[in-house]
Amino acid sequence: MDIRRSNGLQGEVKVPGDKSISHRGIMLGALAKGTTKITNFLQGADCLSTMDCFRRMGIQITNTPGEVLVYGKGLHGLTAPADTLDVGNSGTTIRLLSGILAPQPFSVTLTGDVSIQKRPMERVIEPLSQMGAQIESLPGNGCAPLKIHGTPLKGIHYNTPVASAQVKSCILFAGMYADRPTSVTEPALSRDHSERMLEHLGATLTIQGNTVTIRPEPSLEAREIPVPGDISSAAYFIAAGLLVPHSEILIQNVGINPTRSGMLEVCRAMGADIRYLNERKDSGEPTADLLVRSSTLKGTIIEGGIIPTLIDELPILAVMAAFAQGETIIRDAGELKVKESDRIAVMVEDLSAMGADVTGTPDGMIIRGGPTLSGADIHTYKDHRIAMSFAIAALAAEGTTHIEDADCVKISYPGFYEDLERLSR
Ligand code: S3P
Repeated sequence: MDIRRSNGLQGEVKVPGDKSISHRGIMLGALAKGTTKITNFLQGADCLSTMDCFRRMGIQITNTPGEVLVYGKGLHGLTAPADTLDVGNSGTTIRLLSGILAPQPFSVTLTGDVSIQKRPMERVIEPLSQMGAQIESLPGNGCAPLKIHGTPLKGIHYNTPVASAQVKSCILFAGMYADRPTSVTEPALSRDHSERMLEHLGATLTIQGNTVTIRPEPSLEAREIPVPGDISSAAYFIAAGLLVPHSEILIQNVGINPTRSGMLEVCRAMGADIRYLNERKDSGEPTADLLVRSSTLKGTIIEGGIIPTLIDELPILAVMAAFAQGETIIRDAGELKVKESDRIAVMVEDLSAMGADVTGTPDGMIIRGGPTLSGADIHTYKDHRIAMSFAIAALAAEGTTHIEDADCVKISYPGFYEDLERLSR
């Protein structure tokens, strides 16, 4: 895909449904009693992988334009799949599913694509093993394929070394089947969609600071789940509106849950012109429309407890930093190395190819911004967030940028290039 400099982006865009919430809607809908209606479900490859896994465990799911219906069978209604479950590229699917599968009365093997087979699964194997689970990394390196021998679990208290919503959710989901309450304490608060959805469906959680406790055998009842637009997808249009001169973009129905919206705080610190319109709350998740106008940005420091609230937005924030005045420092973000690609190494490689002044560090990057970048060949390593970040960099850079394996955006935003094209004049 070739992308050229833009003269300005104008108009309205409605980004697709939130990926994290869509996954959880299928999972918890399957474990609830009754029919869960999910609207604005993300039809991205990752969420379709989750849907496929649950269908293979005997859950009927209809997927029609506008709504997904999950015919839940309650906490104990899953049946053994005939074959290995394939999660594709989806870390959320494999980690959250591990927590649901560990206590089932059957055994399952979970696998995924080349990238998933390199990502660390020890972070869920360890706490689940403490609960009594029997999980084996078949290659013996802590990575997938994972063989899970279902077995009864005991409740534990777990201090997670990393702030990860995938780890937290995995433990909470397993905790629904344990013999006593299970709690998780995180070093910093990660996204809380599992907690909000569990409460929405009727579970009782105790939340104190960074500790959440779940009681066993909650009675989950089906309820409608309206999925807000994904702030991680909106992030690309926010950046495009800010970076490309003569732009004004209205992004409708964006989820602004505070455990996800750290990017908006960083944008404010960088001098961005973003207005919140029509703020509201839908089934426990806050949303707003965002009006974004071209702005002159300045460098900033991104570190500490805000990192988990913008972890998926760091690639596009690094692009913004490359066009900003002055230096931006990103630290405490070592997790970037174990995402769909090593996002520190890949951002340094690709931003450097476009002429940016960027240095990688063990837990982040230092970016010295300048007025412009030049088009280049971008290696995405099939990482959707890298492809979308550089599509935006291309709009603000001189010349033409070529994005390799550009279609990997289908993981989280199948219509991304079409939406971008529509806003370009
Ligand atoms: C997710 C949690 C985050 C995030 C991922 C989705 C989730 O991962 O990067 O895209 O839905 O729970 P970690 O939990 O590994 O930080």
